This record gives sequence, C-alpha cells and structure tokens, in this order.
Amino acid sequence: MGSSAAPAPWTPGELRVALEAAFPGAGAEAVVVRAPGRVNLIGEHTDYNEGFVLPVAIDREIRIAAARQDDRRVEVVFLTTGERGAFSLDDLGPARTGSIAYVAGVAWALQEAGATLAGLRAVVASNLPIGAGLSSSAALELAAAWALLGPAGPAALGLDPMGLARLCQRAENEFVGVRCGLMDQFAAALGDPQGALLLDCRSLAWRVVPLPLASHALVVCHTGSARRLDASAYNERRAACERAVAVLAAHDPAVRSLRDLGPDRLADLAPLLDPITLARVRHVVTENERVGATVRALEAGDLGAVGAAFAASHASLRDDYGVSSPELDAMVEIATSVEGVVGARMTGAGFGGCTVNLVRRDAVDRLRAAVEAEYPRRTGLTPAVYPVEPAAGAGIIAGDG
Ligand code: GLA
Repeated sequence: MGSSAAPAPWTPGELRVALEAAFPGAGAEAVVVRAPGRVNLIGEHTDYNEGFVLPVAIDREIRIAAARQDDRRVEVVFLTTGERGAFSLDDLGPARTGSIAYVAGVAWALQEAGATLAGLRAVVASNLPIGAGLSSSAALELAAAWALLGPAGPAALGLDPMGLARLCQRAENEFVGVRCGLMDQFAAALGDPQGALLLDCRSLAWRVVPLPLASHALVVCHTGSARRLDASAYNERRAACERAVAVLAAHDPAVRSLRDLGPDRLADLAPLLDPITLARVRHVVTENERVGATVRALEAGDLGAVGAAFAASHASLRDDYGVSSPELDAMVEIATSVEGVVGARMTGAGFGGCTVNLVRRDAVDRLRAAVEAEYPRRTGLTPAVYPVEPAAGAGIIAGDG
C-alpha cells in the first residue's frame, strides 16, 4: 500500500560513489545539484493563457552528480530506473525519447543561448514519483541545466533563475515537443520553503504566499494511474485556447489572451464559440478568479474559502476543461468526505496523476486510512499518499547535505 514518508534522497557522497562506479575515473571533481518537483495548489491550465498560478516546490527532488570531461559527450545513468542515455553536444537532433531527451533538450537550449558546454558524465537519482503530475520533467530539466553549467551556474550566461526557467521551458516546448507553460520550470527554479509561489504568467511578477503549515499539511494522493504528460491531449487544449483567442480578437482587438477576459464577458462569448470551446474558455477565466480568491483566503486565514475554491477548480477541470479522470474524481470524493480535509482537487495537467489536499495535521492519518481503504475498492488501483513540505528552488548542493 502507499508509503507515507519520502524515501531519503541520495546524499552527495552516495551519488559521487555511484558516479565513480558508473564511469570509473570520471568523477573526481563532481558537482552535485538538485531540483524539486512541485504541486500546484490552484491555477490549472492558466499558465499558457497568461493567467495566474499558485504552485509549491516540494521536498521531493531530482539530484544529479556530474563530472565535466574534455570531450563533447554527455553520458547519463538514471539510477532510479536503470535507464542509460548518451548524446554528443555536436549532434543533438533528431528527437530523442526517454529521460535523456530532457537533458539533450536543455543542452540544446543552453547552446542556443550561447553557452559553451563541455562533455559530462552524470548519474541521476530521484525520490519524485515519475509521471505522477509532480513535474519530474521540469525538475530533471532544471537539475540538468545546473549540471551542464557547472559551478559557474546560470549567472555566467547572464541568466537569473527565472531566465533559466524560461530556457528550460523552451527546451520542453521546442525540443521535447510539449507546449507547456512556465509554471513547472518556474516552481523548480524559484521554490521557497516559506510557502506557495503566486506567479502572474504575463508580467512574470511573483511573490511567496505563506501557508498555514503549523496547523495544516499539504498531502499529495497519487491515483496509481501514472501517465506521462499526454502531449497530444495537452497540446490540443492549448490549441483550443489559441483558436478561441483568434475568434475573440477579431471582435475585440484588446483580447490578446484568455487572461484579458473577466467572468462578466462570458455571456457575450456564447454566440461566438462552439459549446466545447466556450467551456474551455470558461474554465480558464473562472480559474484565474479562483487563484485570486485562494490567495485572499489564505492571507485572511479563511480556509473554508480555500476549500470552496479547490472544489470549484476540480469541478471546472472535470466538466469544462475535460482533463480529470474517474480515478482523480474518486480520489477527490474520498478525501472530501474526511473530517479535517480542508480542500482537495486534481493537480497538474490531469489525465491521471495526483490530487493535492490541504489537511489539518491531525487528520492526515485519517485521510491516509480512508484513501487506502476506499480507493482500491472503487478503482482496483493502489494509491500512494505523500505529505509534502515546501522546498527551495534548484541549485548546487554544497557539502554532503
Ligand atoms: C503541466 C504543464 C504546466 C501547466 C499544467 C496545467 O504541468 O507543464 O505548464 O500548464 O500542466 O496547469
């Protein structure tokens, strides 16, 4: 049945030993880097519509030990899965598959930005469930960027962490082929142990929003229906939003993205859009409102309003945006029936993966027990329940911590 505590991440010392075992003689000057996964509290499928998101970087992460070489080859062993991959920095295309595609994509984007890279031998470890909707790909991208850049870090390229996040998003958009927004790379780059990160995806202004973590925990519930981000369904949703903007802009040139629409405009749009596209637009417009409502509620200590926003977000993703699943719906229903669960909703792209729950600390065990008893009965699948804490963004790990 699902585990509760995060498996301890590999220590830098253990990673250096693994690097030496995988690539004998390569690892004397290894740099060890890390990048966290994320859970999104609210603001789903809003980032690529220039809206608002509220993710939290979490204490489950990807770590890489990497040693630079005097050649142009990047060779990587993924310790958690046993996967191996390699490429030449002089021959990054054509498209690759598997985890190495993210590393190659970041190398491509760094070189496009003018970086002079050296060959690398690296081992990658993770205590982040893969394909669960917790942004293992963005974490791998950010960790790979720090590993490829070495001790000088992104500053040597004139990039701050936001700039590095955008570069990794470019790698995923243009090299891997998923037209994701900026949220995941942003959270992996700029995570803060103090709480959630409110990002305006148009201006890129952001700030930390504290969470009531003395009394409440963030709990991730994995449906066990792990899917890699379904690129075709995701890209199709994004294309529908872009088509809607094109139609609406023809009537009102002030509309540059769905961000420009408030809920008061929804009734006027009905004659212009087919019913499915109208539902997609309604989700984005109302979800942006819910991010604002959630931040105000958190700042006012009104957790009932946070729970209401989570419930409305889940219903909107299920009914209007069409990205939930029977498993996600069952998980949310089970959690919502547990006393002490403030809010529950699907998190991330959807189509499987995880829910996020804000739970009174004294109710975490009760939630776990309810999920472990009810969820397999309803779905035939094995769930996992992970309490998570906010964590810092990507960077080099100094020492052996
Ligand atoms: C994925 C993408 C993000 C975002 C979410 C949905 O995680 O990578 O950019 O669009 O889906 O909110």
